[in-house]
Amino acid sequence: MTFEIRAFYGSEALSAIIQLRYDVLRKPLGLSMEQSQFPGDELSTTVHMVGYKNNKMAACLTILLSDVKLPEEPQSGQLRGMAVADGYRGLGFGALLLDAAHEWARQKGVSLWCNARRKAVGFYSKHGWEVTSPEYEVVNVGPHFRMCWKPKQTTQTY
Ligand SMILES: CC(C)(COP(=O)(O)OP(=O)(O)OC[C@H]1O[C@@H](n2cnc3c(N)ncnc32)[C@H](O)[C@@H]1OP(=O)(O)O)[C@@H](O)C(=O)NCCC(=O)NCCS
Repeated sequence: MTFEIRAFYGSEALSAIIQLRYDVLRKPLGLSMEQSQFPGDELSTTVHMVGYKNNKMAACLTILLSDVKLPEEPQSGQLRGMAVADGYRGLGFGALLLDAAHEWARQKGVSLWCNARRKAVGFYSKHGWEVTSPEYEVVNVGPHFRMCWKPKQTTQTY
């Protein structure tokens, strides 16, 4: 069966998403399930993109519309909680889910930013993201870089 991507808004499917974030992003650092929840998770403007393999939740990410504005961008969203389950990494699923997030953002005219873990910077860079900050430390999590992605402007005129 193929990798199926679904978008959920607000609290739909949220408990399973929080569990996946916990397993992949928080538990390995000794952090709690409570620390796997994000402020704004339940807002109706928040989209959670989830990838299923054989009906099992294998990957997730969340986009929260953000007060942080990128230069010259009318609206931006924070990408958070990018996680691919153990046993499903390195198979292209993260890339497929990130592509879906890009398509969502393109359709909404939204640019994206994230606090990327140092070890994930290469993954985002491969998919058109740019580093926009020096390295900084996130308490309890480790070294990060701010990164951003903007929908490509069409320069062609007819
Ligand atoms: C980082 C993560 C989301 C990538 O997802 P994935 O499904 O394993 O990655 P994919 O198989 O889709 O890889 C797509 C491409 O990115 C590359 N890539 C994946 N992870 C990478 C990394 N950490 N650094 C550099 N490149 C990476 C792959 O080699 C592949 O390149 P290719 O197209 O040239 O073959 C996943 O490994 C993960 O959940 N890691 C643990 C949690 C984490 O670090 N999340 C990010 C928090 S900011």
